[in-house]
Amino acid sequence: MLIAGALAGACAAAPDAPARPAGDVEAPSGGALPGAAEAARVPMPRPARARLGAAVVANQACEGCHEEVAREWRASLHHRANTEPAYRRAFAIEPMPFCRACHAPEARPEEPEPEALGALGVGCVTCHVTSDGEGGLAGEAAAPVLAAPWAGRGAPPAAPHAVIRDARFGGADACAACHEFAFPTARGRSAAELMQSTVIEHRASPAADQPCAACHMPRGPAGRRGHGFAGSRDEALVRGAVAVTARRLSATRVAVTLAPANAGHAFPTGDLFRRLEVSAEALGPDELVLGQAERYLTRHFALRPGAIGRKLVADDRVHAEPVTVELDVGAAGEGRAIAWQVAYQRVAHPNGVDLRDAEIEGEIRVASGRLAP
Ligand code: HEC
Ligand code: HEC
Ligand code: HEC
Ligand code: HEC
Ligand code: HEC
Repeated sequence: MLIAGALAGACAAAPDAPARPAGDVEAPSGGALPGAAEAARVPMPRPARARLGAAVVANQACEGCHEEVAREWRASLHHRANTEPAYRRAFAIEPMPFCRACHAPEARPEEPEPEALGALGVGCVTCHVTSDGEGGLAGEAAAPVLAAPWAGRGAPPAAPHAVIRDARFGGADACAACHEFAFPTARGRSAAELMQSTVIEHRASPAADQPCAACHMPRGPAGRRGHGFAGSRDEALVRGAVAVTARRLSATRVAVTLAPANAGHAFPTGDLFRRLEVSAEALGPDELVLGQAERYLTRHFALRPGAIGRKLVADDRVHAEPVTVELDVGAAGEGRAIAWQVAYQRVAHPNGVDLRDAEIEGEIRVASGRLAP
């Protein structure tokens, strides 16, 4: 493959802070560019690349030189996007080419993905090599690599490949084409038609001025951006999304308040079947549960009889404002302690719409406590 050939053996150490190395260019920026320059702007990462074997070979070259980054990426859900059991189960229920466009973006969406392309998932090349044709993976020259503007001291170290720096790659634009999209049957892109809406949620959040990378690619000791892309499986990250308090309103009622803390978007965000379970139990002797109540904070969808797809009927997730949930455990609460809990849940593709029947694939306890009688 071209990038491998052009770069072979060039993994040398960078020289001491010289002027900007040759091949390290700033992409034209701003919206006020005339047509031709605008068209020359490098595209941002996106689904459905279908570059097949060329992507696998080029990705191996990236991994060979950037070993530490590669180790982090291999442990991430981006690399496992097509092989993770949660995805395989959901895809078995709704096997659509649409899904492959993001979960195996280097394969052809309309055909079963060859194993190597499924195993690649969202690769280095999917995010960093975005131009088509000449200069891209299919081009004659070594593929130029997309990077964020240089944030370190002095000049950037020389790379054995061209580097195009683009401010959009340092922000939500690097993620937007995959992390916000409409249902396959939707006609528009209103909030109700979006299957995932992380980018508009981010724009409306208190963290709108922080890039996605600030939280999902934290810098390591050497100042380099991490590539682990922690999310739904990271207990500390998930717990930090909200600050939770609870108080007793009466003998039978409690109020649990979730205030946004370190989430850069709605909590939960992402996939449809994420939710918060807010629950309370009246406890008798030996912790016997005498009465209980729960509520689910999520995007609530209804199936549409006789039609394809789902319809959004309510969204009671935590956005930019605190959310208070009141629960009544019933007469059993009189004179009893009430235990409360907030749990973040990953739910399997639900069979019906009764939230209590859903199959839980993963759970993180966000907060819990006990209120005296
Ligand atoms: C032959 C070795 C080699 C190969 C192959 C290679 N790189 Fe690099 N790359 C380097 C070196 C050396 C640097 C400069 C030092 C550094 O930043 O790590 C660099 C710099 C970079 C940078 C810029 C970092 C910055 O902001 O200054 C990015 C991004 C990058 N490489 C990604 C990739 C990707 C993606 C691939 C595969 C398409 C790839 N590289 C292939 C060696 C390589
Ligand atoms: C999901 C998209 C995505 C994937 C997959 C990905 N990267 Fe990155 N990478 C980025 C973004 C975005 C940045 C710039 C973040 C910033 O500085 O704001 C980046 C930064 C980098 C940097 C510069 C790090 C620094 O801070 O100096 C290197 C080098 C790099 N990536 C290499 C790789 C390699 C090699 C792979 C595969 C093993 C890979 N990337 C996979 C999105 C990705
Ligand atoms: C080419 C499409 C694509 C791009 C570009 C992309 N992602 Fe992803 N991302 C995915 C897919 C698909 C998954 C789901 C993997 C799975 O769990 O099956 C994912 C998963 C994640 C997760 C883990 C979610 C979880 O449940 O824990 C995080 C965090 C994430 N991406 C952040 C980012 C950020 C930040 C960027 C931009 C720098 C980005 N992604 C760019 C496709 C993409
Ligand atoms: C201020 C920090 C912060 C910023 C900025 C941020 N996130 Fe997150 N993100 C979190 C936290 C905390 C979680 C875990 C709680 C949750 O799931 O919402 C998370 C979770 C996620 C998940 C997994 C959701 C799930 O439950 O499966 C994805 C995907 C994700 N973020 C993508 C993004 C993207 C894309 C952006 C930029 C548009 C972004 N994030 C900006 C903090 C942040
Ligand atoms: C436009 C890109 C895109 C398309 C199309 C897409 N997904 Fe995803 N998918 C994502 C991203 C991004 C995530 C990460 C969000 C999260 O984990 O909450 C994700 C997460 C998931 C998850 C959670 C995986 C996990 O590890 O927990 C499942 C399941 C899933 N998708 C199934 C599907 C199915 C089935 C289809 C087709 C009907 C599909 N997706 C189509 C981008 C896409």
